[in-house]
Amino acid sequence: MELFITFEGGEGCGKSHQSKSLYRRLLAEGISAVLTHEPGGTALGENITKWLKWRKEMTLSATCELLLFNASRNQLCNDVITPAIIADKVVVCDRFYDSTIAYQGYGRGLDPDIIKVINRFAADGLVPRLTILLDMPVSLGLARKSKDRQDRFEAEKIAFHEQVRQGYLQLARNEPQRFFVVDAALSKKAIADLIWQKVASMLPKTKQPII
Ligand code: TMP
Repeated sequence: MELFITFEGGEGCGKSHQSKSLYRRLLAEGISAVLTHEPGGTALGENITKWLKWRKEMTLSATCELLLFNASRNQLCNDVITPAIIADKVVVCDRFYDSTIAYQGYGRGLDPDIIKVINRFAADGLVPRLTILLDMPVSLGLARKSKDRQDRFEAEKIAFHEQVRQGYLQLARNEPQRFFVVDAALSKKAIADLIWQKVASMLPKTKQPII
C-alpha cells in the first residue's frame, strides 16, 4: 500500500505531536509505518539541520538555504522514505517539500517555479498522497515557542511568518485533493481524531479499522 503522508504548518502548530500521534495510532491498528522528519532524518540531514537552524553566526543566503534543505531531503528520500514505501509501509513525514515553497518561496521570496524543479529533483519523484496542513494564526503559534532559545526561523519577523502561512493556504487551495487543512487551534485530541478519520478513509478496505 503506497501511502506517503506529510505534515505541514508554521511554527508552533503542533505538527510534531500530531505526526507522532498518527504514527502510534497506525502501529496500534497493526499497520506497519515509518515516522520521519525534515530537515534531518539521516546522519547527514541532522548535521545540515544544525547549520540551518542554529549556526546563527554563519551567513546563509536564501539560495544556499534552499539547496541545503534539498540536500537533506534527497538523503532522506534515498535512505528512509523510498525503502519504506518499497517495503509497503505507511510513511509519515513531519515536513516535506511544501515547507520549502512556503518558507524559501513565500517567506524568503525565491521563485516558486525554480523551487518546484529543485524540490522535485531532490524528492526522487516522491509525491505525498496526503498533506495535512495544521493552520493557525501566526501569533498563536509563536506564543507556544520559547523566546529564550529561538532558531533562525522562529527568530524571523511576524511578516515572514504571515507570508509562510498565506503560502501554505495558497498551496492547499491549489491542490485540494492532496491537502487536508485542519484548524490547529482545536484541542490536540480533536485534531488527532480528524486526522485519523481522514487517514483511515484512505487505507485499503482490508486494513480499515471500524471507527
Ligand atoms: P521544525 O523542526 O521546528 O519543523 O524546524 C524546521 C524549520 O525549518 C522550520 O522553521 C521550517 C524550516 N524549513 C524551511 O525553511 N524549509 C524547508 O524546506 C523545511 C523542511 C523546513
